[in-house]
Amino acid sequence: MTQSGAARRTVLGAAVLAAGTGFTGLAAGSAAAADEADGQVYGDGHGEGGYRDLPHPTVIGHRGASGYRPEHTIGSYQLALDLGADVVEQDLVPTRDGHLVCRHENEIGGTTDVAEHLEFASRRTTKSVDGVAVTGWFTEDFTLAELRTLRAKERIPAVRQRNTLYDGQWAVPTFEEVLRWADREGKRRGRRVWLHVETKHPSYFRGLGLGLEEPLAKLLRRYGRDGWGAAVFLQSFEPSSIQRLARLVSAPRVVLLSAGNTRPWDFELAKDPRTVADLVKPEGLKWISGFAQGIGPTMDLILPRDADGRLGTPTTLVKDAHARGLLLHPYTARNENSFLPAEYRRGTDPAAYGDAFGAFRTYFEQGIDGIFTDNPDTGLLAAEAFRPGRRPANR
Ligand code: G3P
Ligand code: CA
Repeated sequence: MTQSGAARRTVLGAAVLAAGTGFTGLAAGSAAAADEADGQVYGDGHGEGGYRDLPHPTVIGHRGASGYRPEHTIGSYQLALDLGADVVEQDLVPTRDGHLVCRHENEIGGTTDVAEHLEFASRRTTKSVDGVAVTGWFTEDFTLAELRTLRAKERIPAVRQRNTLYDGQWAVPTFEEVLRWADREGKRRGRRVWLHVETKHPSYFRGLGLGLEEPLAKLLRRYGRDGWGAAVFLQSFEPSSIQRLARLVSAPRVVLLSAGNTRPWDFELAKDPRTVADLVKPEGLKWISGFAQGIGPTMDLILPRDADGRLGTPTTLVKDAHARGLLLHPYTARNENSFLPAEYRRGTDPAAYGDAFGAFRTYFEQGIDGIFTDNPDTGLLAAEAFRPGRRPANR
């Protein structure tokens, strides 16, 4: 390993301690011994410095630590890292002047205070985004300077009332700002800060003359993150975006997969009849392995839920993907009842926490390589049992 696992996990332990979650962290010596013993790393990391250096299973802070802070803010990313997340996720959309900013949707009425800005009232409109009519304010109608006058807010205040405390604390970050933050944090922690970067609606934006992949590749090159071991995964629901990125940079790539009965939007546009159900068959996985290193399936493709919301019989997707050399980073694990499978809910309050540890345990038992979660501290605590030799001393 380039930066030793021992050093990495000692730093991780310290970060978790600082976040006050109750871990003690590992002594460097015991972690080094554990490294020798466990062998729990990705099977094919293409040499030192690649994703094989990540802890396995890997805990990916979904939109940062969005269970605790408004998503896609520096505050959310910082907390994810402080809680010990192995990787921190960004979703990217463009501004009118072509800057990449971190938002899950290009419609920003739900995650910023734009509705309170009377100077932007006339920008409210209805658009068709990937075939869906959406009403609100859109990043592609704002220059970066205009967008930076807005403040981020909690997306789901009814479920995450506590997060509303932080409404207005942060601006919408640019991806460049995140790259600088990650470099800074990496130097401070003595390890690389891994990112997991998604291109959102890439065909839609290309149609507007705002292609995402070229400016993304340019930024990755500028910040030295375009190589294989550059501590970044690239992800998209549109395989053609991943193929385009593969021509531009060498960073590892993950094809996201939604429900089986859906089709990627670029397939719709290209009249490609294949559905996600086709892509998770061995032939589909073989095709994906030609240009990507992994898949990011919705958890339902691994553990389908029945009509009552309970988990059913696991599919063969983990085995089939691994047989094609593809890693699996499924999404999304969350602590609240409203998102948990029925058997892990506790009580009837949708905003209350259920048995998230039980759910994580079941997810990890499937043999997945990582997981996107809004609650990285919960995920990390659950993952410890699946990282032999890395259990904190007090457990
Ligand atoms: O990118 C992994 C996961 O985030 C995909 O779902 O909709 O939250 O971007 P979404
Ligand atoms: Ca995402």
